[in-house]
Amino acid sequence: MLEKRILAAATVFVLSIAGVIALSVRLFGIDLPTCLTDVRPFNDAKILEQGPNRYEVHYVARMWKFEPADLNVETGSTVDIYLSTADVTHGMQIVGTNVNLMAVPGAVNYARTKFDRPGDYLVVCNEYCGIQHHNMAARIHVGAKAPKPLAENVIPPAAAASGKDLLDKYGCTACHSLDGAAGPGPTFKGLYGSQRTLADGKTIAVTDGYLRESIEKPDAKIVKGFDPVMPTMTIPPNDLHAIVEYLETIK
Ligand code: CUA
Repeated sequence: MLEKRILAAATVFVLSIAGVIALSVRLFGIDLPTCLTDVRPFNDAKILEQGPNRYEVHYVARMWKFEPADLNVETGSTVDIYLSTADVTHGMQIVGTNVNLMAVPGAVNYARTKFDRPGDYLVVCNEYCGIQHHNMAARIHVGAKAPKPLAENVIPPAAAASGKDLLDKYGCTACHSLDGAAGPGPTFKGLYGSQRTLADGKTIAVTDGYLRESIEKPDAKIVKGFDPVMPTMTIPPNDLHAIVEYLETIK
């Protein structure tokens, strides 16, 4: 008798758990996770050139290859690797380095390595992932950089993408246009690298330093023809960096 009651209670418990799951699927649109991470921008294979000898590479592992399959960097480059998988669990070992990562569904894993010695580095999968596991490989060529293949893959740094959002977030674009249109403040278009005449008649070149100063101390150098109406901005260093980096791309 007691056993029957315990059995009934257990059944009710299991059913209620199933009910909660079914309800949350319906009410909140909660779905089974896909294998590929939804953490942008790492769900896309890309090579980002972050500076001289500095690269950020987003690898996506999938049956049975790594994307990007080829990477060319200069000797002495530091490479930040972000790894995700589009399907099952894979491994990623860069032979001859200390990089040994797991590509786990839904996750992004990270490693940094510096390529001090020139040569071809083999990238292999070291988690069994299906019948073609043994053929799953990529290549990193370290040497004098071959400009062509890399140039095709390179897209502007991630910072540049978020720089635009930050301009909107801090309200910059309310006064400064991105397309050359007139406004209360000078347009950002073609600003970087240009010459500006200031209210006091001096001419200055728009550099990285000038952009930073004008954001943090807007009254320090007023461009001729504009009023000193911009408020002093307090922007965290990372955001400031991303904004300046983005401003430099608006030709
Ligand atoms: Cu991928 Cu083994």
